[in-house]
Amino acid sequence: MSRTLSGKLVIATHNKGKLAEMRELLAPYGVEAISAGELNLPEPDETGFMFSENAAIKSRAAAKATGLPALADDSGVCVDALDGAPGLFSANWAGPGKNFAPAMERVEKELQMREATTPEQRRAHFVSALIVTWPDGHEELFEGRVFGRVVWPPRGTNGFGYDPMFLPDGHQRTFGEMSAEEKHGLPADGSEALSHRARAFQKLARALLRAKTDA
Ligand code: IMP
Repeated sequence: MSRTLSGKLVIATHNKGKLAEMRELLAPYGVEAISAGELNLPEPDETGFMFSENAAIKSRAAAKATGLPALADDSGVCVDALDGAPGLFSANWAGPGKNFAPAMERVEKELQMREATTPEQRRAHFVSALIVTWPDGHEELFEGRVFGRVVWPPRGTNGFGYDPMFLPDGHQRTFGEMSAEEKHGLPADGSEALSHRARAFQKLARALLRAKTDA
């Protein structure tokens, strides 16, 4: 049976960009979100072969360490012409300094090596797998995707990670040029959000969250 999330929730991330997005998404639901980073929890090794496996590694570790329900996201950008790379290794491509300028350059360099110059040859998508693990072991998984293409040079300074080089289908501006609201805001009319994480979150919210006014 599905459950309702309320009270304290650990966000199993050390990534400030993701934490900020998750806090904004959770704000209307009266859930008190604290992060694994703020609690100084160790970062578990992400040894899975799928986004959902890595998310589960993080949410299980945080739920076990805190005795609270834990929400983890594992996400990345998959470039078709690079056989899905950087994919699970999206964060690794930025190195220990988490510098995404060289990571984006690497994506571009590898596309050029494959002579991928047309929009069709530069197809890419972001994936987000969100998992909630409760301390008793109950788990629920929600996934979201957004399709588009890689542009060069990167455009815009908003967001984080690969945002400046990702142009979602049907839009003229990259994620790096969009406001937070445009990228991951939840439309009031219930229509589909834009970002992969917001899309996964909409599924999670429908299943597990109740708006504050319903309480
Ligand atoms: P994770 O912490 O292992 O899930 O790392 C995911 C990585 O994928 C991030 O560090 C970013 O490089 C990239 N990524 C995931 N979501 C986004 C996004 O919304 N915008 C830009 N980059 C993202």
